[in-house]
Formats: sequence, C-alpha cells, structure tokens
Amino acid sequence: MDISNTSSKHEHKIYMIRKLKHKEKIVMLTCYDFQMAKIFSSVGIDIILVGDSLGMVFQGDSTTKNVTMKQILYHVHAVSKGAGEIPIVGDMPIHSYKNKEIALENAQRFIDAGADAVKLEGHFPETIEYLVENSIPVQGHIGLLPQTYESFKVVGRKAEERERLLAEAKDIEQAGAFTLVLESIPEQLGKEITESIEIPTIGIGAGRFCDGQVLVINDLLGMDPAFHPKFVKRYANLFEIISQSVSAFKQDVKNNTYPDKEHVYE
Ligand code: KIV
Repeated sequence: MDISNTSSKHEHKIYMIRKLKHKEKIVMLTCYDFQMAKIFSSVGIDIILVGDSLGMVFQGDSTTKNVTMKQILYHVHAVSKGAGEIPIVGDMPIHSYKNKEIALENAQRFIDAGADAVKLEGHFPETIEYLVENSIPVQGHIGLLPQTYESFKVVGRKAEERERLLAEAKDIEQAGAFTLVLESIPEQLGKEITESIEIPTIGIGAGRFCDGQVLVINDLLGMDPAFHPKFVKRYANLFEIISQSVSAFKQDVKNNTYPDKEHVYE
C-alpha cells in the first residue's frame, strides 16, 4: 500500500512515524491511563502503545494472556483523551485476530476507541494485509511473543530461528505494516533485520541498532523492584518515592499532623 496517499487523520499520523527511519530514532512507550498520556504529550514522545502488558503491570496477572478486548479498549479510550497529537497503537489481545474478518472487526473497535493503529503479535502477513487494505495501520511484532511463549528467553540465537525471523520481518513489511517491534533477540539479529527492511524496527531487548526503542513505562519508572531484566534501564525508583510518600501520609494521619491549618477550609 502506498501510505503517502492516505487521507484519514490516523493514517497521516502513522505515515509520519514511518518516515522517521534513517532520520531519527523513534521513541515509543506503553501507556494505560489518561494522566500518563498527558505527561507523554507534554514531553512529546513519538508513539504510544497501549500494550496488553497491562495484564501484568495493571491487572496483576503473570501473563498477558487474560487481557480481553473490552479491557484494553477501556484503556485506549482513557489514553486517547490525554495523548494529544501522539499516535496511539492499540495492542490486539490474544484471540482477537484469530482470522482476518475477526481481526478487522476488532481492529475497527480499537480505532473507534481512539487508537490510530493496531499491533499484532506473530507472523500473520495475510491478516496484516487485510487490515491495511481496509485502512487500518498495523504494527508487527516478532521475536519473543508474550501471548504465546512458554518461558522468557532470548529468541533467534539458533540459525533456523534467525532465518525464520528475517523471513517473517520481510513478509510483515510486504504485507504493509508501518513498523515492526522486535522483542528479546540478539543485538546482531536486530541490526540485520533493521538493515534488511525499509519500515522502522522498534526494539525491546533487541539491541542498539533498531530504528527505535520501546519500554513498558512501569519498568522505566522502577515501579517493581522485583522485575529487572537486563534490557531495562530504570530512570527512576518510583517504588521508593511512592512508598516514602504513602508512609509520610500514614505518619501524619496517625500523629494528627495532617490536615493542619493550611489544608482546612475556614
Ligand atoms: O504489551 C506490550 O507492552 C508490548 C511491548 C512489550 C512491546 O507488546
């Protein structure tokens, strides 16, 4: 599909992302709520992913496999109210793209809820092509696939896996995806894939040579001290900051030092 002729607002925003390859690195972050989206909008990141990682960081499950359409659309809608001009990708949950007709119906629900594009995990070029033909921009996702993996591991170290991922990336590009997420693969393979396709790659645990990077916002902010995989760089320790603030509030209430005079109505 020649995306340069696209007319709708969401397709135009997505086209701008596609054009960043070879120009500047793409910054993508996950987001699940209105206030965080507003912060992203004031900073001006390139793209927001309402990821099904919400099953783990928001809902408290150990996988993303229980996230439903209804749940993720609720978050897409909330994020869309704060995201301003930042394009939003909605992550299609497991079972929501079983065949291309179901995928189109569900992808349209994402767009109606405020997303500009959808992401789907795995090698489904026919489905991607069908969505793109129906004016739904699609982000691909290969490498480690949280919706179907059995355990966390780096994918693509074996020669046959490497060949498979290179072929999948090409198929997904040809199907019309506008970007491709690469998750948990060796850096050298991330580089090869990035150099072998014309759409931007966005890495998470895929090394330094991808066209962009994505992190789960809760990991970047250090919300869970128990979760610290190698690829995550923590930019804050919000677990500590929030714990200290809640603890200070607790002390104040117990000691009757909150509210004080400045916090009461006359
Ligand atoms: O759901 C998610 O947050 C994702 C990212 C890890 C890319 O798919």
